Formats: sequence, C-alpha cells, structure tokens
Amino acid sequence: KLADLQGLKAGTLRLAVVTTSKYLIPHFLGEFVKAHPAIDIVLKVANRQKIIEQLETAEYDFYVFSHPPENFELDMVLLSTNPLVPIAADSHPLTREKQIPFELFAQQPFLIREMGSGTRHAIDRHLKAKGLELNVRMTIESNEAIKHCVMSGLGVSILSRHTLSLGGSEGLRELDVEHLPIPSQWYLARLSAKEMSVVASTFLDYVQAQGDQLANLLAP
Ligand code: PGA
Repeated sequence: KLADLQGLKAGTLRLAVVTTSKYLIPHFLGEFVKAHPAIDIVLKVANRQKIIEQLETAEYDFYVFSHPPENFELDMVLLSTNPLVPIAADSHPLTREKQIPFELFAQQPFLIREMGSGTRHAIDRHLKAKGLELNVRMTIESNEAIKHCVMSGLGVSILSRHTLSLGGSEGLRELDVEHLPIPSQWYLARLSAKEMSVVASTFLDYVQAQGDQLANLLAP
C-alpha cells in the first residue's frame, strides 16, 4: 500500500463506545486522525449492555465504558472523570434553590434511561447504596431525548455532565441536590487477551501521551 511505502501507519482503528461517551471520544480522535491520515476509524455507539455484548466477539480494538463489566479480563486507561448530575429546565423553581434536600428532588417526575444503559446502572446502584428512591415516570432510550423532555418541563433527570458541557445545555440547568452528583470515570478498555495491531498500539500510545491534557480540557 502507498501509505506503507510512505512510512505512514495504515489500517483501521475499531472502537465500540457507550452512547454517553459520544460527546467525549471525538475529542480524542481529532488530533489522532490528523497525525495519522492513513488510519481509518470505525466507531460503534450503543448503550452499555450492547457494548458489553460486543466484548464477546472481540471485534473491536478498544471499548469505552464508565462502568466496565467485571466478568472480562480488561486492560484499562482512565480517561477523565464523569460526574452524573441532576438537571431541570432552566424555568424550574428548583433551579433557584441551594442544597436541595434529596426528598424534594425525588418528588419531581423523574426521566430515566432504558435498562441496559450505564447511566441507569449507575443511578440504580447509587440509590440502592444510599437507600434512596426516585419518582420514575418516563423511560427514555436517548440522552438527547431526555434533555429535550426535561427542557420542555416534563420532569427532572440525572445525566453525565458531558451531555451538557460538550453536548449543549441550552434550556437546562444543573441542580444542587443532596447526595448528588454521582461520581464516575471514563475508561478506555481493551481485551487483555486480544493481540494489539500496530494501529491499536499507535492509538494507545497517543491516548497515554495526550491523556492528561485531554482530561483537563474535558474535566467538567
Ligand atoms: P450509557 O453510557 O448510559 O449510554 O449506556 C454510559 C455508561 O455506560 O456509563
């Protein structure tokens, strides 16, 4: 191939990432693609459960999770923090309050992601650990649709701050609620047993070299 003759690294980098990280991952790809014009990218985006199913096929070089599954041997690089924050429409009366008691937040109609979502998994785990409950009224299979439903006053929700900071926060406001945000992190994971292609190790080197800088840039 021409690229090989020119000494460029060529091939395909295959990534499978959870939907919430779609706001973040393009920022890791931008400079990489510019530096390696002969590398093509395949980016699969689906919820946590579907990305876990992709681990079975070992088809991808890397996976991005904030809640990696425990039943796979994975090598992981920490990319950045990922706080899950309470949100409401900017016209909602709670946006004017400070230190909102959790019970008051819990009385609002709550919009939650579908079963299989990592965001939902984190919310359920946090509520269980703290012995808390929410008034779940709608199950919605997309962060974008949740943002629009919250914006139009249908209720409140908890989403990754990256869905607002990088995905746009017009019409929305983060709330100051007791027991929240839920802390979590983003990880770049690879199956330990999968052999690394030249393209994959080039990407890993890039993420390791740029990681701190990108994490600072993205720190919500
Ligand atoms: P998801 O992603 O809610 O889109 O599945 C976030 C995560 O896995 O934490």
